[in-house]
Amino acid sequence: MQKLNKEIGSSFYELHESDREFQILKQHLVTLDLNFTYYYSGRNAILALLKNITSGQTINTIWLPEYYCDTVVNLVLFNFNNIKYYSINPFEFDEEIDVTTFATHNDIVILNNYWGLSTFSYPDKNRPIIIEDYSHAWLSQQSLNSNADYCICSLRKTYPIPLGAVTWKPNSNKKINFYEYTIDKPVLKALDTFSKYMSLKRLFIKNNKEHVKEAYLSLLDDGEALLNISNNYIKPTDIFVDLVKKYMCLNPNPIKDKHLKYIFKHLNKTPYFKIIKREGVTPFGLLLLFNDLNLFHSFKKHMISNHIYPAHLWPNTNIISNWKYLFNIHVDYRYNIEDMSYLVEKINLWSKNNV
Ligand SMILES: Cc1ncc(COP(=O)(O)O)c(C=O)c1O
Repeated sequence: MQKLNKEIGSSFYELHESDREFQILKQHLVTLDLNFTYYYSGRNAILALLKNITSGQTINTIWLPEYYCDTVVNLVLFNFNNIKYYSINPFEFDEEIDVTTFATHNDIVILNNYWGLSTFSYPDKNRPIIIEDYSHAWLSQQSLNSNADYCICSLRKTYPIPLGAVTWKPNSNKKINFYEYTIDKPVLKALDTFSKYMSLKRLFIKNNKEHVKEAYLSLLDDGEALLNISNNYIKPTDIFVDLVKKYMCLNPNPIKDKHLKYIFKHLNKTPYFKIIKREGVTPFGLLLLFNDLNLFHSFKKHMISNHIYPAHLWPNTNIISNWKYLFNIHVDYRYNIEDMSYLVEKINLWSKNNV
């Protein structure tokens, strides 16, 4: 089986409006009537919220989920010394977390929506301040109907944009204008670096320029390193905001849903991994959970040798569970059913031979 896209699952490349991928994405347009505030990165957005909430009132504890993106955890630890972690099972969705069992109204709780599959409910009053993170759940029903005090989403995980994040206040017309009027050189340099990376990767994907691979991978690492040291929350330029706005109302979920239905139908049963999914909702990608680290590595090696790039979420987090090694494989608008068929074939081959 010949796949159409050169690679499956890895990071985004620059898209042009005439590209097939963009045309597919454009088919599902949504109207968003929330009042968004724009940032360069998800971390900038989270910092803006935390700094502004804590400067207006005394906060005893900022609660983070024990399973969360390590770069965000590092940012929060760098800026605050009143952090605690609450335990959570990110792979099962039958029971909702009850934040009032550990946090009070003088606390902030960050809830992460895991791969778009989590649902949250909590009292309206006498509860902690809630920030919900929808970076893996953009345009999910939960994100659009949240009852949190604030929400954030890092949009570069969903769209081919070099950077981009939003915050909003559900059930409110109030725009949250939390910006720092300073210079954040690392974030601007990260933007420039990621932009260069994306256009080089486009040459690799669309024009078969094999020799640029090393250069774009190195730019990708440089960009991530720069983002790690950005510790501000400045207002992005209008040009940048326009780019984010162009994408954020294009719904990536219907095409993912179609691809995942195909995959679930054709993937053979195996004892080596579990598929993380939930009836009636579209997950962020194809989520495969392993309990054996050797098999996890073997799977990755096999996939990479077939130009499929699973992402490990998240390497530096530790949870008490045997099943804790998670891969996400992107199955978005960059691909079509032939690509999905190729993906299924390679996974089934690994399961059969356990190579
Ligand atoms: C769940 C989640 N939230 C927020 C972020 C931060 O987003 P950004 O990389 O745009 O700072 C990340 C990853 O980086 C993430 O995985």
